[in-house]
Amino acid sequence: MNETTSPESYKMVTVQQHIMESQRAHPTATGEFTWLLSGITLATKMIEAQVRRAGILGVLGSTGEENVQGEVVQKLDQLANDAILQCLGYRGNVGLMVSEEDDEPHIVKDFSDAARYIVLFDPLDGSSNIDVNVSIGTIFSILQTNPETKSKDVIGHILQPGIKQVAAGYVVYGSSTVLTYTTGSGVHMFTLNPEIGAYVLHKENVLMPEKGKMYSVNEAYLGTFPDGVRKYLDWAKSEAAGGYSSRYIGSLVADFHRTLLRGGVFLYPPTKKAPGGKLRLLYEANPLAFIAEQAGGAATDGKRRILEKTPTALHERTPLVIGSKYEVAQVAEFWQG
Ligand code: AHG
Ligand code: MN
Ligand code: MN
Repeated sequence: MNETTSPESYKMVTVQQHIMESQRAHPTATGEFTWLLSGITLATKMIEAQVRRAGILGVLGSTGEENVQGEVVQKLDQLANDAILQCLGYRGNVGLMVSEEDDEPHIVKDFSDAARYIVLFDPLDGSSNIDVNVSIGTIFSILQTNPETKSKDVIGHILQPGIKQVAAGYVVYGSSTVLTYTTGSGVHMFTLNPEIGAYVLHKENVLMPEKGKMYSVNEAYLGTFPDGVRKYLDWAKSEAAGGYSSRYIGSLVADFHRTLLRGGVFLYPPTKKAPGGKLRLLYEANPLAFIAEQAGGAATDGKRRILEKTPTALHERTPLVIGSKYEVAQVAEFWQG
């Protein structure tokens, strides 16, 4: 009791504080960006509350409808989508909301200085895992309206390369609920403390290991992968590779979270069923590529850096190789022959 304790040891940083403090470093920051991100964190808390009690709330199973991607919509996909639209629609500074689940973008406000943010999201990632109590998540990406595009050209504002993202993040609803975000100054991780309902900082400036020991891919499709990818996977299993192990959850957000912390590589190459890849450039690949790069990792479609791809359609898909620099470069080398 007599010892002097430094104020640092009392420090508990919530995501709100963290964003506010990092925004203070930007001389032009107005606080509206902080306000926008707090809308997203609020939505993820609403989603997490539904996910945690899905069985008792009766929200497991599908709605009986298909989304624009031709995929079955789960009840929780719908609830998650509504939560995000609800929490961001009234923030004032969001002009457009673009969801993986919806055909068209939601135009909240005409573009103006006051509504210059565009939020793109995969409300619930890992649909096939919802009903079986395996980790799922939410992924988001934030752009600003494109100054080179005419003000009324909604699609033109949205179809910007990933390099233009001003922020990106994801939440994994796993054994605990973890939020990870970047605004281009490192990657920061928070755990939801359910007792107080706040995301509390647990890792600042997360760095992905430069090399890992795991690869993550749906090997059931091996027969239809490009030759180079098959050769990489053969090599990864060989003694010469030094002993890789494999993990595949089937929720991109959870497979990526593990890769970020442990290193290694996640791959979803083109397949016969999805010749252009399955994952979506705007809602999945871009935000995770931004985080990977900020953490010292890399992301490619096999030929090009993900963040440099200019999208040509809202729901465009892409092959994805993402993870530690070493493994991503190796996959690309095998792939390109
Ligand atoms: P979503 O649930 O948002 O549609 O995404 C599902 C995606 C992704 O989370 C995962 O990596 C991939 O689908 C799994 O696909 P396969 O079942 O073909 O392996
Ligand atoms: Mn998804
Ligand atoms: Mn989804």
